[in-house]
This record gives sequence, C-alpha cells and structure tokens, in this order.
Amino acid sequence: MVKNMKKLVINGAKPLVGEIEIGGMKNGALPIIFASLLITKGTCTLENLPAVKDIDLSLEIIESLGAKVERTDKHTAVIDASGVSVKEPPAALVRKMRASYYLLGAELGRFGTAVVQYPGGCDFGGRPIDRHIKGFEFLGAKVTETFSESGKCVRATTDGGVVGANVFFDDVSVGATVNVMLAAVCAKGVTVIENAAREPHVVDLANFLNTCGAQVFGAGTPTIKITGVDKSELHGSTYAVAPDMIEAGTYMVAAAATRGNVLIKNVIPKHLEATSTKLEEMGVKIVENDDSVQVSVPGELSATNMKTLPYPGIPTDMQPQFCVLMCVANGVSRLVEGVFDNRFQYVDQLRRMGANIEVNGKVATISGGSPLYGAAVSALDLRAGAAMVIAGLCANGKTEIDNVNYINRGYEDIVEKLRALGADISLINEED
Ligand code: EPZ
Repeated sequence: MVKNMKKLVINGAKPLVGEIEIGGMKNGALPIIFASLLITKGTCTLENLPAVKDIDLSLEIIESLGAKVERTDKHTAVIDASGVSVKEPPAALVRKMRASYYLLGAELGRFGTAVVQYPGGCDFGGRPIDRHIKGFEFLGAKVTETFSESGKCVRATTDGGVVGANVFFDDVSVGATVNVMLAAVCAKGVTVIENAAREPHVVDLANFLNTCGAQVFGAGTPTIKITGVDKSELHGSTYAVAPDMIEAGTYMVAAAATRGNVLIKNVIPKHLEATSTKLEEMGVKIVENDDSVQVSVPGELSATNMKTLPYPGIPTDMQPQFCVLMCVANGVSRLVEGVFDNRFQYVDQLRRMGANIEVNGKVATISGGSPLYGAAVSALDLRAGAAMVIAGLCANGKTEIDNVNYINRGYEDIVEKLRALGADISLINEED
C-alpha cells in the first residue's frame, strides 16, 4: 500500500508576528509515562501532555503491557498500571522510538526483571545504551542481549529485585540517568547517582515520582539521592508536565531568523537561559516575563560561536535551529556539537537552499549573510526537520519539506501555530 506521504510547503521571507502557546515537554512526558508503570495503587492523571506522535506511541506501548489508558482530552491521559506484567512489547512499536528503553528501568523497578527490544529513534551517530546497562549493573542487575523472533533484545534480571548503590556515570546521559532513577525508586536501600544529567525533564520526573510517594532528592544537580520505598507505598497522583524548552527555543529562533516579533507564552524562562543568552549575543532582543518571552530583532543579526552541551549548556536539540539562524546572520559562525558524534547530516539539505557551511567532524563553520532560497528538502530527524521549517520561513521562494512524520513526533500543531504568526505554510499530500 502506498503510504499517504505528506509534505510541508512554505512560501518564505515573511516575518513571524503575534503570540503562541508552548505545550508540555515531550522529553519530560516520556519518562513520566513510563514511570507510571511503577504505580500499583490508584491511577496517574498526566496533564499538559503534548499532542505529538511520540506520546501516542509511548501510551500504546504501556497499553501493550496491560496498562489501561484513558485519553480524557487532547493533553490529558489517565493511566491505571495495576494490571501490567513483564512481556516483550511489540517490536514494531519499540523500534519507532528510542525512549522505549525507559521500559527497562520501569520494569526493573517494579518487577526486578525487564526485557525490551533494542530501541530505535533519531539516527545521528551511534545511539548506544552502554551507560544504561552499566547503571543497571551497579544496582545488581544481570544484563544480557538475547534474540527473539522480534530481533535483538536487552534482558535485565535480578535475584529478588534491585539493590540501592552508588552509580557513577563517566559521562552524562539523560536516558541513563532517567533509567536508573526508574529502577532505583523501589530498590532495597539508597541509590546515589553521580554525574547525573541535570535537564529540566530529569527534575520533572523526580517531582512526579515524589508526588507518588517516592523519595528522590537532588534532581537538577549532578548528584541525585534516591531512598528506595516499598512499591506498595507508591500511589497514583495528578501531575502536569513542565513546558517544552526545546519547542520554545525553536520558535524563539524562528522569530529571530525571520526578523519577526513574537510573544512565546507558557514557558519557564530559567530553562531557556542558555538559548536566550546566545540569541542576545547575536543581536536578538529578549524580554523575559514570568511565564513568557518576547522575541524581536531591533537591528542586524551577527555571527557567533557556540558549543552544545548537557544542561545547563545550550541543548544539542537546539543545534540545527541555531545553524539556520547563523546562515542568515552577518559574518562567520562556528558551531560545535558537544553531545552527539554525527549531528550535522542535515547540512546537505541546507546547502540545497544556498547555505554556505563547512563541516569537519563535530565542527561546522557557517558563512552567513547571503539569503537562502526555497528548495525541495527532507526532514532527516525531528530537530533537523524543525530547522528545515525555519529555513523555509526565511528563504526567498517556496520550500517543500518531506518526511513530515519526523516533525510531528515533537511539534504539536506546527502548521497552525506558524499560520497564527503569519507564516504561509501548508501541509499537503505528496501527489498533490
Ligand atoms: C535524550 O536522548 C533526548 N531524547 C534527546 O532528544 C537529546 O538530544 C538527548 O537526551 C541529549 O539532551 C529523549 O529524551 C527521548 P543521552 P538520550 O543519553 O537520552 C551517548 C529529541 O530530538 N550515550 O544524554 O539518548 C549518546 O550517544 C531527542 O527530542 C552513550 O554513549 O541522550 C550521546 O552521544 C534527540 N551511551 C550522549 O551520550 C549510552 O548508554 C548523550 O546521550 C547513552 C548515551
């Protein structure tokens, strides 16, 4: 059956003007959805969930394990995990999303055993899970790779459940930090995670777990202490996911790149500090309010140098978007990818629009100042897709972006939100 492929069509070179609301944080909601599997008493009502594909997928995965999920509205899910059991989830679902590996931590935490097919997800350089496995081994789990008819699986087993321990990560990993937190909540004894990821979504997960009766302290710092509780002590709760700092940052860059003037509402300015500071360095004016930021460009945009780092540094998930902004800024910018091995694959797509970018390993040199021109390009992954949208909004002429499904994984109603800001953007069927 021919897939009904859709593409975005943008007629660019129009400033974005107006105001938009930011949704819940995708990368914070995913750990919290899998964490709900730990709760055996009562239901978890999760609010402010972004209406994006990855959320639908994660809820489908936990349902396949026996959880009951009720979507009471576009942004709310009520989860009853009392009937969940450990079994291999459908490989077709797991392979679509890297965050499926949070099942390992949640199942280990609740049942003392776990099995998940190797996860999929955005492909920019190897996405190993060795740090996750090391974290589980610190907690006394035996982790092996097994093969079933659905492919290569990771299996973790323990003798009677995980045991609290000091878990030291040589390098920061968001996913591994989350997975160890999930496994350690009901461990026998205390777990201390050293060199933990400090992202806001790690803090959001800790806050959610503590509303359910867990004892997680220090999230947001490099040291997280988890005092294991009996799983019978965990209970359901109602929790609203924090706003998405990457969605907010994406629209901030889009407003700047199109020399627009946009009020971006429902944000936590503290989470945007690194992005805002870098934008101001480039000549963007940022006015911070309690839960919104106003973005405009009073004068010229100028080049800058940047390196992406784990939080509180500039997020790697903002790297492609900043690259586009550097293309339309005056001067030569240097952009270093400090987290992933190969996150510049999208540059070829920008070159098709006239961008002048040299890539050497983890360093891109961007010669800005010349206009971008509309072209037919592809979204290679979620954030690269968002970058192509920003490029299309700046470019002279028409840009067509295929593989729109990548963008829909993490940006709710992107067409409607951009249209509300004056963009000429449509979603059409490929054959149209
Ligand atoms: C999370 O991925 C996010 N995904 C990514 O966002 C984000 O780019 C990344 O954190 C960094 O902030 C979700 O939250 C679902 P890591 P994750 O473990 O957990 C290496 C998006 O667009 N590493 O912090 O996979 C890894 O290869 C996505 O929303 C190992 O070597 O990121 C990378 O180079 C894209 N071994 C670095 O560490 C491991 O066991 C950081 O990865 C784990 C990671």
